[in-house]
Amino acid sequence: MSRETVGYGLFFRDPCEIKKHRESLLLLGKMASVGQMAGGVAHEINNPLGIILGFSQVTASQLSQDDPNYQSMKTIEREALRCKKLVHDLLRFSRVPKDNSFEIVDVNMMIKECFSLIEARSKTTDVEVIQELTPTPLTVNANDNQLQQVVINLANNAIDAMPHGGQLFIGTRPSTTRQNHVDLYVKDTGEGISKEIQQRIFDPFFTTKDAGKGTGLGLSLVQEIINNHGGHIELESEMNRGTTFTISLKQANAS
Ligand SMILES: Nc1ncnc2c1ncn2[C@@H]1O[C@H](COP(=O)(O)OP(=O)(O)O)[C@@H](O)[C@H]1O
Ligand SMILES: [Mg+2]
Repeated sequence: MSRETVGYGLFFRDPCEIKKHRESLLLLGKMASVGQMAGGVAHEINNPLGIILGFSQVTASQLSQDDPNYQSMKTIEREALRCKKLVHDLLRFSRVPKDNSFEIVDVNMMIKECFSLIEARSKTTDVEVIQELTPTPLTVNANDNQLQQVVINLANNAIDAMPHGGQLFIGTRPSTTRQNHVDLYVKDTGEGISKEIQQRIFDPFFTTKDAGKGTGLGLSLVQEIINNHGGHIELESEMNRGTTFTISLKQANAS
């Protein structure tokens, strides 16, 4: 059996596989530049958005509430605010993390901060997003930006698994199985993952999606980040019923 090595020591058996992985690498480079561009575009949008918001607020404040234009102005204001939040989150997410430092992170807050990015995508696909966060903070020692990447990757996969719509639950709870741990789960009502495929989903470049749609890097990144955090990932899936990924992280200050 012939084997070839590609740069960083991964082994692939046949030329087709090598071609596919080269394409994935190209796509990865393209995605990185799209990410940078998104950051730049978000910056550019910020200023005109500020002007739209400012004028609509001033105009609305000068109109009486029964003026026929009042509701329109309030709608412009509300929608501009929504865009501003989205741009803000996009900027935060596309920012290259300065360091890998860990700090005390409230998992609930971390999820709320990337929520608008998830909702922006779910709305285009008829997926209802349901937050099931504990009312009190659940703190872990973590890198905030990396944990957001985990949530966004899991949520993106969940949305991809529900092309005809469905429900996406993102929740937290004190772990029921591990002492002094916090659970974060992302659950969907999508197509599910077969047993054979479950064994491969964390492999770098493994994807079942069409070229251009999947890189197969999302879950390998999730795994790397969670390993870095000393956490655990569990997966439950049933074909045509849905999938749940549960991440367990040690509670901050727990011995
Ligand atoms: N929630 C999910 N439902 C169904 N399949 C999933 C889900 N999450 C991951 N998968 C499967 O795992 C594969 C690998 O996921 P990932 O590493 O994120 O790469 P990509 O999303 O680029 O394909 C996906 O192609 C898909 O087959
Ligand atoms: Mg993915």
